[in-house]
Amino acid sequence: MSVVEEIQALRTETMDAIAGAADSDALNNIRIKVVGKSGTLTAYLRSMGQIPADQRAEVGKTVNAARNEIEEALESKKAELKTAELEASMEAGAVDITLPGRVQQMGTRHLITRITEEVAEIFLGIGYSVAHGPEVETDFYNFEALNAPADHPSRSMQDTFYVVDRSGGHRAVKGESDVLLRTQTSGVQVHVMEEQKPPIYIIAPGKVYRRDVADPSHLPQFNQIEGLVVDKGITFGDLKGTLEYFCKEMFGPDRKTRFRAHYFPFTEPSAEVDVSCGICHGEGCRFCKGTGWLEILGCGMVDPNVLVACGIDPEEYSGFAFGVGVERVACLKYNVPDLRMLLEGDMRFLRQF
Ligand code: DAH
Repeated sequence: MSVVEEIQALRTETMDAIAGAADSDALNNIRIKVVGKSGTLTAYLRSMGQIPADQRAEVGKTVNAARNEIEEALESKKAELKTAELEASMEAGAVDITLPGRVQQMGTRHLITRITEEVAEIFLGIGYSVAHGPEVETDFYNFEALNAPADHPSRSMQDTFYVVDRSGGHRAVKGESDVLLRTQTSGVQVHVMEEQKPPIYIIAPGKVYRRDVADPSHLPQFNQIEGLVVDKGITFGDLKGTLEYFCKEMFGPDRKTRFRAHYFPFTEPSAEVDVSCGICHGEGCRFCKGTGWLEILGCGMVDPNVLVACGIDPEEYSGFAFGVGVERVACLKYNVPDLRMLLEGDMRFLRQF
């Protein structure tokens, strides 16, 4: 085979290979192998010096022609493969624009959180500030300093979870304070009075715990908001006015309130406050058990014993306190018949608020 024939054969073989190249990588390999620096066709160009002079012109022409032809074919195949590859990748990553979109659901604050914030807003608006106390509390703050010493009958209404029982089952050992999950936020009153001198105007929201089985009106863990005012010349009239204002702000001006005498160890006198039923408007229905009223909070004038326990002179200062259940307020505001519904996590229920 003459050199010219060899070159022609190499050209034909390369052109076939180019036509059959499956992808850009294969095509690139052909380019390197044939027309690259040490490619097979390039080798002919490099060795022109060894070709006899009379054949040189023809061989040169053939090599150049083959080279041009191959390079052109490489270019056009490259463009063709590029288009095909782009199409394939577009197809692979294709978005089906006929599919319905994925809706990113916006979260909302839970009703319990919202009511807590609403109560705080109302009281912040009349000059109160927000205080916090520990959920794991000692017997002293939860009961004793609140005028409910060990063996006080009021304790039995609020049995709880004991973390450390120093009394070995008899929770009455003097001077040794058990550690427990607080049953009420009232203990924050004591912490605040220990740290701050009057005038005191605070609310204290937080979780509380009781050994209750969950039913429509009880939860073993719930939220309370405590309120405490200690100042000079505070009277029961201030308490009534404040709580009436709160109820109207919270439930609307058409809801009525009433104060019923009650007992709490840390207040004297004490009262429970009811709001008129939002379903029957006082007529009596199943929701309010026929009474027309729903109990919403406990309150009273701070017992002088509590002031003394906290180092405040009851001759100089007086005060009132109240404690309101957040879940209860939420249910009474929106006529929800069962406290447990707030905690079931049913989105159909929760989204209504
Ligand atoms: N701590 C009481 C309870 O959990 C509620 C309460 C009643 C709080 C009267 C008070 C109050 O501050 O004065 O049942």
